Amino acid sequence: MSDKVNGQWRLAARPSGDLKDTDLTWHEEPVPELKDGELRVRNVYLSVDPTNRIWMTDVEQYMPPVQIGEVMRGAAIGVVEESKNPEFSEGDVVQGVLGWQEYSVTDGAILVKIPSGLPFPLTAYMGLLGHIGATAYFGLLEIGEPKEGETVVVSAAAGAVGSIVGQIAKIKGCRVVGIAGTDEKCKWLTEELGFDAAVNRRSPDFRAQLKAACPDGIDVDFENAGGEILETILGLCNLKARVVLCGLISQYNADTPPPGPSNFPLILMKRLRVEGFIIIDYQPRFMEAIMQLGQWLGQGKLKYRVDLSEGLKTAPAALRDLFAGNNIGKRLVKVSDE
Ligand SMILES: NC(=O)c1ccc[n+]([C@@H]2O[C@H](COP(=O)([O-])OP(=O)(O)OC[C@H]3O[C@@H](n4cnc5c(N)ncnc54)[C@H](OP(=O)(O)O)[C@@H]3O)[C@@H](O)[C@H]2O)c1
Repeated sequence: MSDKVNGQWRLAARPSGDLKDTDLTWHEEPVPELKDGELRVRNVYLSVDPTNRIWMTDVEQYMPPVQIGEVMRGAAIGVVEESKNPEFSEGDVVQGVLGWQEYSVTDGAILVKIPSGLPFPLTAYMGLLGHIGATAYFGLLEIGEPKEGETVVVSAAAGAVGSIVGQIAKIKGCRVVGIAGTDEKCKWLTEELGFDAAVNRRSPDFRAQLKAACPDGIDVDFENAGGEILETILGLCNLKARVVLCGLISQYNADTPPPGPSNFPLILMKRLRVEGFIIIDYQPRFMEAIMQLGQWLGQGKLKYRVDLSEGLKTAPAALRDLFAGNNIGKRLVKVSDE
């Protein structure tokens, strides 16, 4: 055993409703010595994603649920501290599903090396230039198929995925309307990111405001929220509109998902195309998205924001924050210094 101690969050119970302090337990154990073929990664940034809450449940999903007692699953970026694997050297920066822990001992099979000397900060590779940017890029462009002059609406618009979706839609010449949970976020979307309009989902006259912001109706809905937001949007969709079903965050805490949307028949009447997608299906094409997003970033056409939470012990609260809407941009937990 090495003398290093590994702090970890382990799943203690399947959450019911909002994530509770007792659903995860903090655990400390010695970091094991490396066997041949293994490497030890010191985790630096942990990505906190709404899907973490799905993985804690045993509902039907796109990956196996995290089992009770296991280290919580999570994507992270870290630095190789020691390696007995010829593919990796001390000092390499790597990215992968390294878990909610301070150190990961792995055979490196599913790790991606981040080349040194790249022009952007490491945090960018956990958001815009990582799985988040790819989600926005492929979801909008390949499923939403926006055309110049069309109206694109995006929910959770001031969050990680949504803030990028809206900017890509602007690059493609669309009218872009964001939906967010506070006036401050709406202001950021219109004044900093160039959205044409933004509507506070908590406004009592939300529907009227959204309708006014979309005078020509909605052609593409990039759906991150579901529930009442989706229902409102369906009512405003044009014939042949596309609904990109990226996420349903309003339902992830629900033990029994609510039925609906109640205006489901509008999908028929308006000939809508509603298509869900999971970004891991696009993994082989990630570089395509990252090259284009990096180019737009370098040209000043895209902005991104990182919302850092300090220390691994804050991870459960950082996740809970996503459901309270307390983040702006990509929520990361800083586990250790770069
Ligand atoms: N399909 C895929 O492969 C894929 C990949 C990545 C992410 N996603 C999905 O994309 C969505 C956004 O993920 P993200 O990582 O970018 O998170 P995020 O938008 O940075 O954070 C989540 C945001 O959701 C909003 N929200 C929370 N509860 C809500 C509710 N009840 N109703 C409406 N909005 C609510 C909050 O913003 P406001 O309070 O400002 O509304 C919050 O800031 C999630 O649904 C996620 O599951 C899907």
